[in-house]
Amino acid sequence: MKIYEVKTYDEMSRKAANIIAAQMVLKPNSVLGLATGSTPVGTYQNLIEANKKGDIDFSEITTINLDEYQGLDGDHDQSYRYFMNDNLFNHVNIRKECTYVPDGTIGDADEACKAHEEIIRTSGGIDLQLLGIGGNGHIAFNEPCDHFPAKTHVVTLTEETREANSRFFASIDDVPTHAYTMGIGSIMSAKKILLLANGAAKAQALYDTVYGPITPQVPASVLQLHPDVTIIADEAAMALIRKNR
Ligand code: F6R
Repeated sequence: MKIYEVKTYDEMSRKAANIIAAQMVLKPNSVLGLATGSTPVGTYQNLIEANKKGDIDFSEITTINLDEYQGLDGDHDQSYRYFMNDNLFNHVNIRKECTYVPDGTIGDADEACKAHEEIIRTSGGIDLQLLGIGGNGHIAFNEPCDHFPAKTHVVTLTEETREANSRFFASIDDVPTHAYTMGIGSIMSAKKILLLANGAAKAQALYDTVYGPITPQVPASVLQLHPDVTIIADEAAMALIRKNR
């Protein structure tokens, strides 16, 4: 694992965007695995600026997102499809038909999850997977549990995650109870992984990810087994790692 400590969220976002931009320059038809949440918003803003300046080109890029709430369609302003359109896709020269988010409107979980896995497979695999991390060490919607789920699957969201995400909904009752998410195996099959973490709320999870035992109780700890992981974290998220080094 390569770990870069930066001072601020802005610095984290610039560095992350530069790494993604480099990937796009080196391989213009890259398959990018993307995440939602507050962590990558600044990264996407930097990518939009770079695209506007003509430094990066999305015309041959394919994107595959990690997860989506079950039951929300792309027009719902809290769906992850809406988030991606709003925070990135609507502002760059990407072909929308080459952007894939699990389809929350497919009620049959098996069908929705198989379709997403098939997209990963037929795309030739993800070149660079961008990840955020939950305060409990989750990646995508893979919550702490007793095993590492291999493929895209349906999950029942924990109260902690629903609570954390309720800030984006009118009330916690409006937060969906289930989601479709890429599995740990789907994430680990990406050629490169870029994990971002900012803020003190991520410090314990980040420490456990890097130095803790590899356990499905801290899903991100599995990244220790991946051959090409880059972590960019701000000072607050790095606090425990720095203290225990
Ligand atoms: C979202 C995702 C989640 C988030 C995580 C952190 O696609 O995969 O695992 O990365 O919940 O969320 P934020 O960035 O809002 O702190």
